[in-house]
Amino acid sequence: MIPESFIQELLSRVDVVDIIDKRITLKKAGANFVACCPFHQEKTPSFTVSPSKQFYHCFGCGEHGSAISFLIEYEGLSFVEAINELANSVGLKVPNETPLKLEKNSEYVNLEDAVKTASIFYQKQLRKSPEAISYLKARGLTGQIAKEFSIGYAPEGWQNLKNVFKNYENDILIKAGLVIKNDKGKLYDRFRHRIIFPIYNDKGSVIGFGGRIINPEDTPKYYNSPETPLFQKSYELYGLLTARKSIREKGYVLVVEGYMDVVGLAQKEIKNAVATLGTATTAFHIKKLIRYTQEIIFCFDGDDAGRSAAWRAMNNSLESVTDNMQLKFLFLPDGHDPDSFIREHSVNEFELLAKEAIPLTEYIIKYLTINNDLATQEKKVKFLNEIEPIFKELNASKLSLLFKKRISELINLNLEEINQVLKTKNVYPKKNSSKLPDRLPISRVRKFCLLLILRPDLIKQEDSEFFISEDEEDKLALSIIEITKENGEYNSAMILHFLGTRFDKELIKQIHMQLSIFDDEMEMDDEINALRASIKKSHSSLINKQRLNEATKKGLDSLSEEEKDFLKNIGKG
Ligand code: GTP
Ligand code: MN
Repeated sequence: MIPESFIQELLSRVDVVDIIDKRITLKKAGANFVACCPFHQEKTPSFTVSPSKQFYHCFGCGEHGSAISFLIEYEGLSFVEAINELANSVGLKVPNETPLKLEKNSEYVNLEDAVKTASIFYQKQLRKSPEAISYLKARGLTGQIAKEFSIGYAPEGWQNLKNVFKNYENDILIKAGLVIKNDKGKLYDRFRHRIIFPIYNDKGSVIGFGGRIINPEDTPKYYNSPETPLFQKSYELYGLLTARKSIREKGYVLVVEGYMDVVGLAQKEIKNAVATLGTATTAFHIKKLIRYTQEIIFCFDGDDAGRSAAWRAMNNSLESVTDNMQLKFLFLPDGHDPDSFIREHSVNEFELLAKEAIPLTEYIIKYLTINNDLATQEKKVKFLNEIEPIFKELNASKLSLLFKKRISELINLNLEEINQVLKTKNVYPKKNSSKLPDRLPISRVRKFCLLLILRPDLIKQEDSEFFISEDEEDKLALSIIEITKENGEYNSAMILHFLGTRFDKELIKQIHMQLSIFDDEMEMDDEINALRASIKKSHSSLINKQRLNEATKKGLDSLSEEEKDFLKNIGKG
């Protein structure tokens, strides 16, 4: 048996969008992601995945659930297998797990095996190559660090892997990105005469390689595995597996640009660094990292290329920024990357720079005002035009508000005026914003429940006082309030999972449906407060009615003083 608390922990760590997007391609649509439903045949997408609610729902066939149920339904895993798979992906160990074999589809296993076998071969070759060893030594790396990162060497020659794999002609090797077939059908090794940096997934399997030239005349400088069923660049981060522990310990992660930066920093005992794989940072990278830490520091070279990479990373990350995390930007002196900086300067100096990294919104302002002194109306307008799209992406409402305030001061407008000129996400209560569609007849208590599931942070423990009847709706509300009592951090998926263990399947299905129709951007605080007040009011009138009934049944003489008072005052409201 897997403890319920572990399942809850797991649901708080994994990202359902990440899990699903790795298996079917999701497209962004407003606050959600959509796709053609994998559970029934359709031509237009009615399958939605909500990052804020952490569940999926198909408007076509009604299929719905969490990351766990997705793996069960889509991959055909058992419950325990799904839990194991998810736990592995976030580096958690399942308590009391009984040994079990994950039955993956066999091609995946073959690909994984092939890449693993190649990685072991490359590592062996490194030990045999004085040239490769002295290259790494010259770059300040010890054998110990090379081992820690499983660094290898692909020797010169076109078909070295022929001696490694019995069947060099097998398509699996091509699919795994190890072997290339040219136009004439001839096969040859992808990596030749290169230092090999194995790339690991969250589970600790090698899924691809980066290969760096040794001979400065060769091109390209880096050559990576292609996208394969195992390896998708925009999801993976180089070094994350080894960095996880240190990221948690230090409380922040450094995102650098190069393989050599991660390894070079690790050589100097800075082990909380990861690198993107020659691609821009994606929202998925951010989501992955915030499972381990709430502070992400992008570290870029101080040159033009670094500056434009930083701006791109900022733009790609915006949508994943929440009020619970911090994004910062560190720029190194011109001509340096983290590896060269730390070798020329010191760990201390590097950590000082990290401490002084610029927070996201200050960075945006700085970037947009490098060539704009905001001295004329026209320049201010230009600035506003450039900042407008940023607000459209930014979902973090507190940060967004404070950022707007800061901008209003910068260009001498007040907040109201800024709101009028900028088309932005509304972070203030919208009038009539949060109506559920009229076609859904829905009780006040049900609506309250839905809002609490969406915003467990707004639950007050005294809310439980109002739900005293035996109605299913009241029990539902009580359960939601009860579960969140135990632990501060709850998300929608966790609550829904809990409700699923207590309530009827049909009810849970209906709740998913109703939640899916809610507008993610609406302002829920006010809505919840208004409902709470209204429920409280009818609750107290219900209680009064009960007391009145009881009191009037008694004779006047047998009434207590309190009951007399109550009767006297009841007419006065
Ligand atoms: P060194 O030059 O060995 O210090 O490596 P580096 O890791 O500092 O590389 P650099 O800063 O030049 O590039 C950063 C990252 O971009 C690399 O780690 C690669 O992921 C990627 N990259 C650089 N050059 C190439 C290339 O020629 N082809 C591809 N596909 N990726 C590259
Ligand atoms: Mn470098």
